[in-house]
Amino acid sequence: MINKAIILAGGMGTRMSPLTKAVNKQLLPIYDKPLIFYPLSILMLAKIKDILIIVNKGQLNQYRKILPDGKHLGINIVYKEQTYPKGLPDAFLLGEKFINKKNVALILGDNFFYGQNLTSKLISCTKLKNGAKVILHKVIKPELFGVAKTSKTGRITMLKEKPKKFISDLAITGLYFFDKKVVEYAKRLKPSARNELEITDLLKVYLKKKKLTSDILGRGGAWLDTGSIEDFYKTSAFVSAIENRQGFKIACLEEIAFSNKWIGKKEILNAIQFYGKCDYSNYLKKLIS
Ligand code: G1P
Repeated sequence: MINKAIILAGGMGTRMSPLTKAVNKQLLPIYDKPLIFYPLSILMLAKIKDILIIVNKGQLNQYRKILPDGKHLGINIVYKEQTYPKGLPDAFLLGEKFINKKNVALILGDNFFYGQNLTSKLISCTKLKNGAKVILHKVIKPELFGVAKTSKTGRITMLKEKPKKFISDLAITGLYFFDKKVVEYAKRLKPSARNELEITDLLKVYLKKKKLTSDILGRGGAWLDTGSIEDFYKTSAFVSAIENRQGFKIACLEEIAFSNKWIGKKEILNAIQFYGKCDYSNYLKKLIS
């Protein structure tokens, strides 16, 4: 079972400078909410309540203004600062105490997921006891991501980080589920040619032990990247199109907490007061009327 997760929201955001000079990338808007709401909403949909957010050194106060300790959502949020981005597996080294020898999920702070059966898929991933599990999604440019080659039966046979030569069009999305051995394995990793610890190398440890499984987010689901300014606008346009058509908000944290019965009307009213007069508050009002 997985009850704990890490959101890796570190990184310099260099590709989005000057926007990210004073404000952390994950606090910039994807349409009507800060980016960090989206990965957090995914964890909450997976019913994970114990969350560590890893942020850049010096940016803790910005985060605490919008997401303090999580009590307002019926969850627990703690923070850890990262001095320098050393690669994704560093999350498990920084988070060792938080993980406390338990199974743990990792989601990248800039990943966006959307889809009809997503919640049940996520919940089934949290049932993991041993090994590791990744979510794969077909992309046109696999060379930009970690990629998995699968057999006819769907078993992963090969992994490669940003392959120059085509091996598969299934990207490994930034949502991972690991057993408690992950910290031990992460400690043994050596930096890659780009001088970073690579998540793909960590996954390869599980693959070698035949303990790596996967699920596919199919064509009815969306996995979007928010790595560049262009991606930010595209993802914002996607959220705007869905929200303004259906009237439902994507990644409204209070709505998810309310429907999970982690908070009640009182907390929704507090949230309305906290956000003030805005569209988001109007949406919250409708939830409890
Ligand atoms: C990282 C991982 C890659 C994964 C991607 C998902 O890439 O290294 O395996 O597919 O996140 O967003 P990066 O963002 O470091 O280029």
